[in-house]
Amino acid sequence: MHEEITPLPLSRMTAILVVGSGAREHAILWGMAQSAPLVPMYAAPGNAGIESLATCLPLHSPSEIAAWAKERGCLLVVIGPEMPLAEGLADRLREQGHVVVGPSSQAAQLESSKVFAKTFMDRYQIPTAQWQWFQDYDTLRHYLMREETGPLVIKQSRLAQGKGVVVARDRQEALATITDWSTDMTVYDDGIIMEECLHGREVSVHVLTNGKDYVWLPLAQDYKRLSADSHSPNTGGMGAYAPVDWLSPWDRQIIDEKILRPVVDAIAKEHMLYRGILYVGLMMTAEGPKVLEFNVRLGDPETQVLIPIMNIPWTKWWWALGQGLLLQRQLPTPNQAAVAVVMASDGYPKRPVTGQSIDIRQVPESLIFHAATAHQGERLIAQGGRVLTIVGLGDILKTARERSYQQVGAIDFPQSQHRSDIAENI
Ligand code: AMP
Ligand code: GLY
Repeated sequence: MHEEITPLPLSRMTAILVVGSGAREHAILWGMAQSAPLVPMYAAPGNAGIESLATCLPLHSPSEIAAWAKERGCLLVVIGPEMPLAEGLADRLREQGHVVVGPSSQAAQLESSKVFAKTFMDRYQIPTAQWQWFQDYDTLRHYLMREETGPLVIKQSRLAQGKGVVVARDRQEALATITDWSTDMTVYDDGIIMEECLHGREVSVHVLTNGKDYVWLPLAQDYKRLSADSHSPNTGGMGAYAPVDWLSPWDRQIIDEKILRPVVDAIAKEHMLYRGILYVGLMMTAEGPKVLEFNVRLGDPETQVLIPIMNIPWTKWWWALGQGLLLQRQLPTPNQAAVAVVMASDGYPKRPVTGQSIDIRQVPESLIFHAATAHQGERLIAQGGRVLTIVGLGDILKTARERSYQQVGAIDFPQSQHRSDIAENI
C-alpha cells in the first residue's frame, strides 16, 4: 500500500549519496551540482571524474553502504545501477529513514528478471514481443533444432549488463550462443527467453514515477551495438542523443495510453513501492510501439544526454521523488540538444584491456563524464570497458554532434574504440 506522505523539508537533508561508479552517476551528480546543494556530496564507489564533485567512498556491497549511511542522519540517496536495486538496497536504506530514489526490490524485478517482466506485461496486455521460456539447455536446443530459422532473439532472463541479449542471424549462431552461455549453468536459474523478432526504430522512454503518477523525461535514443554493423555484439550502450523529434505527438499519445499508463497502474495494483525512474525500451513497429525491456533506473548513456538538457533543480526533484512526490505534471521542453559518444577500451565488451593512460584536452560546449577511470599518481588511467562518455551540446543535434566528436578528437586514449555514427542522419 502507498502510505500517506508528509514531505520532509529540504533543510532536513544532511548529505547526498549517489550509488554507482559510471558515467551515469557522474552525470547525476553533475546535475545536482548545477543547483548548488548546500550539503556534502558522496559517491559509492564513484570514479576519478566524480572525485571533482563528490567524496568517493570505497563502499561496494549494499551492507557496506547501509552501514555507512546508518550513522549519517537523513541522507538523500540516488541509486544509479540496477544491481543494488535488485539486491534490495533501496528497501534497506528506506527502513533506516533515508530519502531514497530507487524502487523496491520487488519492483526491481521488472528489470532483473525478464520472465517476471514478460508475465507482468501479459497479465496487463502491455504490447510486447511473443515469447517462450526455457529452463534447461536440452529443451532449448531441441526447440532451436526443430522450430526456428533466423533471426532468433535469445535473452538471458537474469541481469547481464546489457550483454545477455543476442539477435542471432540463424540457427547456427543461436546454437553457438546457448552453448557459450551454458558453460555457466546458473544461466538457467532464471531461464532463457526466446522472443519474436521485432522490426522498427528504437526509442528510450524515461519517466519519473511515484508508482501512481509519472512525468515524462525527454525522449532519447541509444546505440546498443558495439559498431554500426548490425551484427556486432550488444553492449551496455555506445552512444545516445536527445531529444528525439522523429516521434509524432500521436505516437507519444499511444505510448502514453497503451504502455505507460497501464504499466504504472499495474505497479500500483500490485502494491509495488516505486519511487524512482522507469525506463521503457520500445520498438516502434508497424503494429505500434512494443516493449523490448523495462529498466528500473536511468539509462546509461541516456542520462548523460538527458540531464544536461533538462533545466530543472535536480536536488529538489530527487528529494521530492524519494518521498513519493512529483513537483510538476510536466517538465519544461528542452531548448538544447545533446549527443553522447562512449569511449570504451579495446576488447570491450568481451575482454577490455585496462591500464591505458588517458590525456584530456577540454573543448568548449562539451562535457566529459567518467566511468571506468582511476588516478594512478598524476596519471588518469582506464580501468574497464566503458571508460568515458563525451557529450556535445548545441541548439540543434547537428551542432551537438560536431562538438561531441571534436571533444572525442581532443582525447588521447590509445587502445580505445568508439562509434563514429552516433546521431548521424537523424
Ligand atoms: P533488451 O536488453 O531486451 O532491450 O535487448 C537489447 C537490444 O536487443 C534491444 O535494444 C534491441 O536492439 C535488441 N532486441 C531485443 N529484443 C528484441 C526483439 N524482440 N526483436 C528485435 N530486437 C530485439
Ligand atoms: N542504455 C541502455 C541501458 O541503460 O540499459
